[in-house]
Amino acid sequence: MKQLMIKRFGDASQLELVEQEAPCLATNEIRVQMHFAGVNPVDAKTRAGLGWGAEAIKDQLPWTPGLEVMGTVLELGAEVSIYQEGDRVFGLLAGGGYSEQLVVPANALLRVPSAVSDETAAGLSLAGITAWQALTEHGCLKAGERVLISAAAGGVGHLAVQIAKNLGATVVALASSYNHEFLRNLGADEVLDYREQEQVSQLESVDLFIDLVGGNSGKSLLTNVKEQGRVVTVPTNTADDVINAALAKGLSATGMLKHNDNQQLANLMQAVVEQKLRVEISHVYPLAEGELAHRQIETGHTRGKVLLQG
Ligand SMILES: NC(=O)c1ccc[n+]([C@@H]2O[C@H](COP(=O)([O-])OP(=O)(O)OC[C@H]3O[C@@H](n4cnc5c(N)ncnc54)[C@H](OP(=O)(O)O)[C@@H]3O)[C@@H](O)[C@H]2O)c1
Repeated sequence: MKQLMIKRFGDASQLELVEQEAPCLATNEIRVQMHFAGVNPVDAKTRAGLGWGAEAIKDQLPWTPGLEVMGTVLELGAEVSIYQEGDRVFGLLAGGGYSEQLVVPANALLRVPSAVSDETAAGLSLAGITAWQALTEHGCLKAGERVLISAAAGGVGHLAVQIAKNLGATVVALASSYNHEFLRNLGADEVLDYREQEQVSQLESVDLFIDLVGGNSGKSLLTNVKEQGRVVTVPTNTADDVINAALAKGLSATGMLKHNDNQQLANLMQAVVEQKLRVEISHVYPLAEGELAHRQIETGHTRGKVLLQG
């Protein structure tokens, strides 16, 4: 089977398609034929040797990125009774998703409902879980509150807009003008171009700010948060900076690292089935073109999600 891997940290050209032995199957595991793997900014940052991801794997090179997949069950371990061959499954992984085949514990993934496409299931997990946890576990968003979401058209942002709307919030979304209609169609109440600083500074202040850009962007938008408002800064590498600036203004602020939770993921998938949540897939590349997929995510201007096709 083929797998994309890096042998050393570096730019996107480090991603190399390598023929590997298919992994062995333990009795509690399933073998999955990958159909689609999500490509996320953390994959590219880790590949480049940056952040907590690179710190965690620096002694484990060569390394295969990929934290979310969708595929079909090829083979069952002797003790596995919850699946049959051919079942469609999706979910979050600890890594290694950019592979034609994966071996995972049977309870690690969830079944894809028949009404849901392969692509949607592949793109939901990481961004969906992050958006949900940012808004609810960390942001404690309540119906009737105003929430500001930066990078609103991106992977996490476009799901956060819809989830916040479903939770009864008034959603203020920041994005380039070419994304404004897209965001209004997803339910955003107010949409602004983050480059129009005067307009942004005149926004009615918000109860909660979900910062999906971090750094100077995150810090400059703190002026839009109500006194005693809340800030969740999602990019980890600039979190301390944004949190300290927020605390200095008397706001409550936290960073976050998403955690896997299959119940939350099942709830998000149910919202997809009920057509309350839509996953936008803007780019699909063959597995062999992982380099292009990483170059796309590194533009910082992807609408929705990027996938690799197995
Ligand atoms: N802590 C965690 O557990 C966790 C989990 C997931 C993601 N993250 C991090 O969260 C961030 C967002 O992830 P993502 O997957 O949503 O990224 P993404 O899909 O790559 O985000 C792309 C979006 O960013 C927008 N953008 C770029 N510069 C901007 C700026 N200055 N102001 C406002 N928007 C801007 C673009 O908007 P336009 O095209 O409209 O300009 C584009 O829609 C990344 O840093 C990622 O690493 C953290």
